Amino acid sequence: MKVTVVGAGAVGASCAEYIAIKDFASEVVLLDIKEGYAEGKAMDLMQCASLNGFDTKITGITNDYSKTADSDICVITSGIPRKPGMTREELIGINAGIVKSVSSSLIEHSPNTIIIVVSNPMDTMTYLVHKSTNLPKNRIIGMGGALDSARFKYRLAEALEAPISDVDGMVIGGHSDTGMVPLTSHATRNSIKVSEFLSEDRLNQVKEDTKVGGATLTKLLGTSAWYAPGAAVSGLVQAIACDQKKMFPCSTLLEGEYGLSDLCIGVPVVLGRNGIERIVNIELSDAEKAHMQQSAEGVKKTNGLLEF
Ligand code: LAC
Repeated sequence: MKVTVVGAGAVGASCAEYIAIKDFASEVVLLDIKEGYAEGKAMDLMQCASLNGFDTKITGITNDYSKTADSDICVITSGIPRKPGMTREELIGINAGIVKSVSSSLIEHSPNTIIIVVSNPMDTMTYLVHKSTNLPKNRIIGMGGALDSARFKYRLAEALEAPISDVDGMVIGGHSDTGMVPLTSHATRNSIKVSEFLSEDRLNQVKEDTKVGGATLTKLLGTSAWYAPGAAVSGLVQAIACDQKKMFPCSTLLEGEYGLSDLCIGVPVVLGRNGIERIVNIELSDAEKAHMQQSAEGVKKTNGLLEF
């Protein structure tokens, strides 16, 4: 199993680190445009191997896509991250050109690859990969919902004063401050609905804190987060590599599901060796349906800024 991660910045390196620590891939190629940078990160990570007990071989490459040839899974983290006060949508001008050229270089050397898009604005970048390549839809996956759901569970556990392992919950919709739809009506603590324990006001607070989860960290760190994004990507990569058939909310091309079409947005999907093996339709409350509709309008507006 060969995995390529493009972009050796904080998210890309964290992603390579978590993949290696889980020790299911034989090889991770880390590629960056900055001379020597990916090589340095890869060497530092490889020097963790004996300490953390993994055998995954991590190689760093400066911009030579021939070294990514025959990758089973490619992760695109390239582009600029947001600065405090910026929305993910504001990154489109720079990131669209980068994601388009990176995806075409990857596919040239790995025509059978599955692509995971992390660069922001993620739903629009995922749509761009659809529009600019001929890959089938099951092989293009946007990573946002897995991260947003982890942040949702963190906030739920905090409100419930419970360990996170007691909590389950999912965030669908667009990966943006206004687009996320945390499914509070489906969230549970040990299979009991969280509304049994938390007031409507407290649950609304959890929802709001979840939606600005990335912005809160960007304000604290001065740039966007990397540990949880890296961990979330590694979860998707592992589900595909190990054919786990695990369910995550991921951005995928919708063709009528949830009453939506011609956009990529986060919905529950089953991930296995073929990438997105199934889109899972769940019943939403009227409020959640309205929120999902509004989220889709936001994503389509950003998609409208793309130039093909
Ligand atoms: C975040 C970035 C990865 O939410 O979108 O932290």
